[in-house]
Amino acid sequence: MIKVKNICCIGAGYVGGPTMAVIAQKCPEINVRVVDLDKDKINAWNDSDLSNLPVKEPGLSDIIKKVRNKNLFFSNDIDDAIIKSDMIFIAVNTPTKTSGEGKGMAADLKYVISCAENIARVATKDKIVIEKSTLPVRTAEKLKEILSKNAKPNVNFDIISNPEFLAEGTAINDLYKSDRVLIGGDNSARGKNAVDKLVNIYTKWIPKNKIITTNVWSSELSKLASNAMLAQRISSINSLSALCEATGADTDEVSKVIGLDKRIGPRFLKASVGFGGSCFQKDILNLVYLCRGYQLNEVADYWEQVIKINDYQKSRFSKKILELTKDNNVTLLGWAFKKNTNDSRESAAIYVSEILINNNITIHIYDPMVSEQRILLDLKLLFEYKNFSKKEIDKKLMNVNIYKTHNEAINNSKVIGLVTEWDEFIEYDWEEISQKSNISIVDGRNILGQRLNNINNIKYFKL
Ligand code: UDX
Ligand code: ADP
Repeated sequence: MIKVKNICCIGAGYVGGPTMAVIAQKCPEINVRVVDLDKDKINAWNDSDLSNLPVKEPGLSDIIKKVRNKNLFFSNDIDDAIIKSDMIFIAVNTPTKTSGEGKGMAADLKYVISCAENIARVATKDKIVIEKSTLPVRTAEKLKEILSKNAKPNVNFDIISNPEFLAEGTAINDLYKSDRVLIGGDNSARGKNAVDKLVNIYTKWIPKNKIITTNVWSSELSKLASNAMLAQRISSINSLSALCEATGADTDEVSKVIGLDKRIGPRFLKASVGFGGSCFQKDILNLVYLCRGYQLNEVADYWEQVIKINDYQKSRFSKKILELTKDNNVTLLGWAFKKNTNDSRESAAIYVSEILINNNITIHIYDPMVSEQRILLDLKLLFEYKNFSKKEIDKKLMNVNIYKTHNEAINNSKVIGLVTEWDEFIEYDWEEISQKSNISIVDGRNILGQRLNNINNIKYFKL
């Protein structure tokens, strides 16, 4: 088999960047090109100051330092990368559609489709095209159609699915020690050959028994299904947290007991203000939309309930804050959808803020990693989606203050909503903070309970 020497990845985001960095590190004989339309993003990947990388992940900058401009290259020259590569990963974003058919439910495939058109337009020899982005089942069929319709004569494409299972904040470790690598391909001789080439890349660091090969549709669906099952666990414990509050049971204790059953296991049973991130909600909506498309309405309703509980949890948390607020000021600690990432896509913080702002609350926000521009943009996009006018949005954003230190954010209100489980929140000098004034904390991550045990001036509420 001819060995793959050049690969490229279209999309230099949270998936493409870390994944290609690890492939480049583990396969020094392969040239890896990561390309993106976004010039600022590529400049940031090429910045000599590694603290400016666009994706913040523990361990990522060390790898970039070692392999960048050796066998890992970041550039905006998409066509050149396609022409030079034997294998092309598509790792562009597939957000939920905000307009047209399937608005608010289906995955928007416009970026993936435009990549396929781009590949077909410039490719002068056969290519293996790999779906890395999470896609609805049977997208490969659509891609195949686009690729062959636009291809130059005698150029053929093999499409394989290789969904990414990394979680943000632990991406590098997840890539190094994946539970499994999933590769879906078709059963023809060409299909098998394409799959084998990708298997050969992963075997450089992943044990062979962890590399699972399936048909393309199973691979596409397994990614959606894995995320739906994980999200379902969180919604299950979150639904029980409301019952715990009503009955005097303790969510953490219940969660611990459930998790000690080996058949259930302890992970992903941490009650929270609601899951966020670019995957869970999007993938479940996608699954629901898919089920409805096949007239499987009962199945669709079942999975939709996971989202409903997630929305319920965000509003339950916000309601508690509103009940405690007497002077229209609230501090929010955390904006990222979880700790150790600067990503805030679908973060519960956005929806909690919406509810608070709509109730005329002025919010004071601190997050160690998410930038002020990002926070304001998250809110602006949400209000635009809800069809507010520019004037109304500007007025709403007047009620938003963002600070560089936690003390400034905390000093401005008597009620604190903790949204993200950042470790530093546990380390704060709560004794000293409590001496300045009586405060209430609604802990959306159940991380401060023990820490605040003997501090009298703080009213503490957990989920
Ligand atoms: C997820 C999947 O874990 C990963 O396999 C997939 O490839 C992409 O989607 P990610 O979104 O990065 O990864 O983060 P994850 O750690 O799964 O957390 C998602 C959300 O659930 C976060 O908001 C997190 O805070 C929340 N969560 C997680 C809980 O509320 N409770 C838990 O017990 C676990
Ligand atoms: P993910 O979490 O899936 O990696 P990101 O939004 O972090 O999503 O990254 C996706 C990247 O894909 C973005 O940087 C975006 O600019 C890029 N992108 C989208 N469409 C195209 C395209 N047609 N060609 C090249 N890059 C694209």
